[in-house]
Amino acid sequence: MSEVKFYYGDSVPLEMHKVRIVQKLNLVPIERRLEAINEAGNNTFLLKNCDVFMDMLTDSGVNAMSDKQLAAMMEADDSYAGSATFTKLEDKIKEIFGMKYFLPAHQGRACENILSQAYVKQGDIIPMNYHFTTTKAHITLNGGTIEEIIIDEGLKTTSNHPFKGNLDIAKLRGLINKHGAEKIAYVRLEAGTNLVGGQPISLDNMLEVRNVCDEFGIILVFDASLLADNLYFIKNREEKYKDMSIREITRIIADLSDIIYFSARKLGCARGGGICTNSHEVYMKLREYITLYEGFLTYGGMSVREIEALAVGLEETMDEDMINQGPQFISYMVEKLDKSGVPVITPPGGLGAHLNAMEFVDHIPQKQYPAGALASALYLISGVRGMERGTISEQRDADGNEHFANMELLRLAMPRRVFTLSQVNYAIDRIKWLYENRKLIGGLTFVDEPKMLRFFFGRLAPVSNWQSELVSKFKRDFGDSL
Ligand code: F0G
Repeated sequence: MSEVKFYYGDSVPLEMHKVRIVQKLNLVPIERRLEAINEAGNNTFLLKNCDVFMDMLTDSGVNAMSDKQLAAMMEADDSYAGSATFTKLEDKIKEIFGMKYFLPAHQGRACENILSQAYVKQGDIIPMNYHFTTTKAHITLNGGTIEEIIIDEGLKTTSNHPFKGNLDIAKLRGLINKHGAEKIAYVRLEAGTNLVGGQPISLDNMLEVRNVCDEFGIILVFDASLLADNLYFIKNREEKYKDMSIREITRIIADLSDIIYFSARKLGCARGGGICTNSHEVYMKLREYITLYEGFLTYGGMSVREIEALAVGLEETMDEDMINQGPQFISYMVEKLDKSGVPVITPPGGLGAHLNAMEFVDHIPQKQYPAGALASALYLISGVRGMERGTISEQRDADGNEHFANMELLRLAMPRRVFTLSQVNYAIDRIKWLYENRKLIGGLTFVDEPKMLRFFFGRLAPVSNWQSELVSKFKRDFGDSL
């Protein structure tokens, strides 16, 4: 993906890779999709892949690997202890992040479990730009409270602020003054802020946060799961750093962090995760948890093949032609939808395109889960599977009251290098049609509601027969077409 200009008409994102392995897709008829979404309790997590055409649920563990990653997987050195494959990854981490210690874990939330167990005590406060579901769950499980202090602009659905993921420095100082630095377990910064639409954080903001942490002796933890997108945005939206290489920017970020952790299901286009630090003390504190929960220090729950793929994937992340594919495809999709009047989160971020359900289906009250209803409706009319990122993804409070989300989003993730532009155009076409017919979409109600992380397994039903009305309209407009 590059700055290639087109001579006739508008430029489109041009892929700097070619496809050499393909997977056949099915687009099942709408009648089957109606059955499938109800079998799945209107929860897109519970759909079976054989019923899904475009899987835009997540970018996690489903990014396309390169030929070099696949080749590396073949030469993995399998051993419980001292694997040469692990040394390769450790060396790559040292080279890219300049960090002395690397602790492997089976995925991102495993790192969160370990960090929360090691650092969060009852009554502690953990300020952050914004939470991620598993992050919050682990912190609260250990008695901590998260404080989201993203800049106000971050919660505005439409904006042209280039870094909506920034942390509000005044609010950080306010929290430290109120609770005292000793109550703050650590400050957490999340790259490419997931739940507010994959919005990046600027390098200048990170440096300011570092200064405050230094002033009060607070640890700074950086969640680098969505680092690749964030690196692209720093280079392309932050004037000061436009002439720096991706490698140089990465190094500055690493230098300002005490601890970096990541999900390798996103960063490095593999599977797994890990924690990096320069501190011997931190390393010693976390080491036992790895062997207790993950595995020996030279695999940490990852298969050696994935470790090989990750080492190559991290190196490939330093290539701008590789990391710009996601953001550029997302920007293409967001801009097309925005121009057609479909409410989307702007500016385009990383991770995926995000539909603003609060506006898309503004006739559905928040207690009937507008984003969940939109996810169900979009699957029904297109076979495109998105993910609800709204109230269903929140948890009820201790008294069982609903906790309404700040934003009701339908996330349409863009796994890296997976879809073609014509598939993206298909998704845009169906979303535009759905927007024109949005009044036919109705709400959902829980029929089975788990206590923890209910969005994974919860089952819901439509509050009326709106789905069959939507199917009838689809058939009138599309005839026999799928
Ligand atoms: N941190 C962030 C910012 C994430 O986006 C994720 C996962 C995690 C931590 C946890 O990592 O899945 O490897 O355990 N996000 C996925 C998603 C699940 O679909 O957005 P994990």
